[in-house]
Amino acid sequence: MEYVRLRNGVELPKVGLGTWQIVERSLMNDVIKSAYDSGYRLIDFAKAYSNEIAVTKALREAGIGREEVILSDKLWRTVFGYEEVLDACKQSLKKLKTDYFDLYLIHWPASISTYPDWAEKNAENWRAMETLYKEGYVKAIGVSNFNVRYLSKLRETASIMPFVNQIELHPGLLQQDIVDFCQKESIQMEASSPLGSGEVLKQETLVRLGDKYGVSTAKICLRWGIQKGFVVIPKSTNPERIAGNISVFDFEISSDDMRLIDEIPYCGGIGLNPDDKFEFETYEV
Ligand code: A2P
Repeated sequence: MEYVRLRNGVELPKVGLGTWQIVERSLMNDVIKSAYDSGYRLIDFAKAYSNEIAVTKALREAGIGREEVILSDKLWRTVFGYEEVLDACKQSLKKLKTDYFDLYLIHWPASISTYPDWAEKNAENWRAMETLYKEGYVKAIGVSNFNVRYLSKLRETASIMPFVNQIELHPGLLQQDIVDFCQKESIQMEASSPLGSGEVLKQETLVRLGDKYGVSTAKICLRWGIQKGFVVIPKSTNPERIAGNISVFDFEISSDDMRLIDEIPYCGGIGLNPDDKFEFETYEV
């Protein structure tokens, strides 16, 4: 496995396990066991995925110690306020029977289309994230689904900029303006849905490149993300695909082919925009 190093020295594996939509306990047990056995050490989950307990129980049942994995959780978008964020994180830690997260992310910014005081809300939540970091509850803090608007506003008040920004990134959705901003600020990009939810795998250019390099189109997507400097967190419930998705370090995509992938037109996006109101704004978890 290869690693990236965040500004504060914390290392993250370049491939982690995504768990969105994996909720059911026995399935999670199988997924976590396969992933760990295949070499995954970063597990991404969220309160809003309703799988915090399933992940932890699966780790415990597989006999995997806390120090052996990097746990990355997310604060849900209905939590606002300094004390509220501290409480939410501590409640999640308690639920998971651990005293720290390796990575804790604000799942979504307070959206400009929903909250007139969106900037203050985001600033205040981030101030609490900084406290969680300084007090050792979290080894690295970050955000998710923050575009340039939210990041640049946060920069006006943050004393520590996020170490990580997790957004949807895959061939057919290279959010170059956000990637550029984050690279300039030394914010590590983490690619959620790096396979375009499986939708982009039939895309013609990717299929052709898979044939050329003798690998699956999924591996082309993941390798592209890694060569872009992203941490990728593919999800799968299939043991063979779980194992395959992490073995992407034995080939390299040429710069010409990287450019071809960059130019793939929009496809496979989930279609959620942090500037929009969307239906699970008040989703309770
Ligand atoms: P499955 O769980 O049956 O493997 P993303 O990570 O972009 O959200 O994509 C997840 C989707 O891609 C899931 O539907 C998953 O299905 C599928 N998937 C994951 N890995 C592969 C792979 N190597 N080849 C084909 N489909 C995959």
